[in-house]
Amino acid sequence: MSTSPAPTAPLTGPDAAELPAADALAGRFPHTPAASPATAQTHAEVMGSLTFGVAFTDHMARARWTADAGWHDHGTVAFAPIALSPAAAVLHYGQQVFEGLKAYRHADGSVWTFRPGFNAARFNASARRLALPELPAEDFVASLAALVAADRRWVPETTGASLYLRPFMIATEPFLGVRAAREVAYLLIASPVGPYFTQGFTPVAIWVAADYHRVGPGGMGAAKTGGNYAASLLPQQEAYDKGFEQVCYLDAATNTYLEELGGMNLFVVDDDGAVRTPALTGTILEGGTRASILDLLRADGREVREEMIDLAGLLDDIRAGRVREAFACGTAAVVTPIGRLAGEGFDVTVGDGTPGPTTTELYTTLTDIQYGRRPDPAGWMYRLA
Ligand code: COI
Repeated sequence: MSTSPAPTAPLTGPDAAELPAADALAGRFPHTPAASPATAQTHAEVMGSLTFGVAFTDHMARARWTADAGWHDHGTVAFAPIALSPAAAVLHYGQQVFEGLKAYRHADGSVWTFRPGFNAARFNASARRLALPELPAEDFVASLAALVAADRRWVPETTGASLYLRPFMIATEPFLGVRAAREVAYLLIASPVGPYFTQGFTPVAIWVAADYHRVGPGGMGAAKTGGNYAASLLPQQEAYDKGFEQVCYLDAATNTYLEELGGMNLFVVDDDGAVRTPALTGTILEGGTRASILDLLRADGREVREEMIDLAGLLDDIRAGRVREAFACGTAAVVTPIGRLAGEGFDVTVGDGTPGPTTTELYTTLTDIQYGRRPDPAGWMYRLA
């Protein structure tokens, strides 16, 4: 019996150049300015000490969907608590999906985001899995542009900082029967952020969970939905308590193969320069950063393999020096070196425990493209404002 599921097809979404320019999308989320935006002093205080995901901008974008009327009521309005029936389906059955992107300020003051067509495609793939309606990619991108235009002053100017964009969709129908909701809301909020890991580009320690799994075959693992993150909270807390920053999950079917970190994908670099990442099996969330790293390496002529990576083999390879580097990647994490991998009965240092050359080069290349410091040959950047 084969234990290796067939790889799933990678996500494809429109490239930045295939999307209408932000100007052409203006007006899709009509703007009602907030009555009480943050004062200049509050704004300065927030922007002067950026951490991840704690402060929010003055506005949010939103639209509603009903089974009868489809999408309607698009707008960019004041960031404020939302009215939700205590019977709303999302509060009971977790019917929701989300995305994560960043808006980067370039030296000339313009504001850009990275591969929004990928995120729009993944948002809709997640929505299909959660029996939620799809949002047209052009509306998804229009909401990003409308919110960034309204909240431009919240896009940081400091190196390594950005405006994190969090689109999400929730089932709002007040109904306790278990079926797909017929009333849904789309919302987009934004948070000025510094690095996800407060220590920045510094190796993190990873705990490999043997007794918890993130998802199982046929589950929601390939979808970006809150339930998968909820499942990771207890293992994450236990790992923190042991002194580890993140948890790596193994496949639930065999407890053998590395999958992902719950909020990030994973790569290893061999001593011959080959770079490997777990294959997309349907239980891994395909990251835009993951896909871009694969593209960058292939364009550079590097050997890249998407394959099943078994933990026992990886530990042997790390101990023997055949695996020299490991790193995590994601929109929030960017590229984060992994210095240590531990679990029940093992604790290994990857390479010499410091960021390796491939990890460092990928971090530099990606962030240079995102912040407009080097050309963008693949056309990944989309101008929002
Ligand atoms: C992202 O990278 O955007 C994510 O959604 C991951 C989350 C852990 C912040």
